[in-house]
Amino acid sequence: MRGCLGVERARLLAFHYAGDGSLAAVAALKVPSDQHWSDVFEKASVSVGPADYKIELGWVYIVPSHRGKRLSEDICRQLLAGEPRAGIYATTRSNNVSMIEVLCALGFARVGKPFPRRDEELMVFLRS
Ligand SMILES: CC(C)(COP(=O)(O)OP(=O)(O)OC[C@H]1O[C@@H](n2cnc3c(N)ncnc32)[C@H](O)[C@@H]1OP(=O)(O)O)[C@@H](O)C(=O)NCCC(=O)NCCS
Repeated sequence: MRGCLGVERARLLAFHYAGDGSLAAVAALKVPSDQHWSDVFEKASVSVGPADYKIELGWVYIVPSHRGKRLSEDICRQLLAGEPRAGIYATTRSNNVSMIEVLCALGFARVGKPFPRRDEELMVFLRS
């Protein structure tokens, strides 16, 4: 289906519910297709072993009324605690200051060079 998120690629999904029972945040660890993975790493000029960094932290979304409370760091930290394998990558827009702050707080480091995707510029982060 066009626009499908490919949720079957999720390895771990996290949901955070607010006190009133409404959904406040989601995040996931997922395994991208080999083609998507090599495309990202190639475009960012990052060379890592084919078996490394195969898991992606993504689909991080905080409902607007719940932003500014570090919920994304909390939910991502819980996801990472559930993943025994070390090598994890993430991408974010170069101008997404909050997400870059969150990734750095989680121990990710920026690698390679920014690359264009549609009308955005993305950067790759790795966590060893
Ligand atoms: C990006 C996003 C996940 C961050 O959510 P959040 O948990 O509410 O993040 P916060 O606003 O609490 O900010 C996280 C950090 O970024 C910092 N930050 C936010 N905006 C900033 C800015 N303009 N300049 C500098 N630092 C900034 C915050 O101060 C905070 O750092 P701290 O913990 O040291 O105080 C959320 O804005 C979101 O869902 N955005 C839309 C979807 C998205 O972009 N997802 C990421 C896709 S890769």
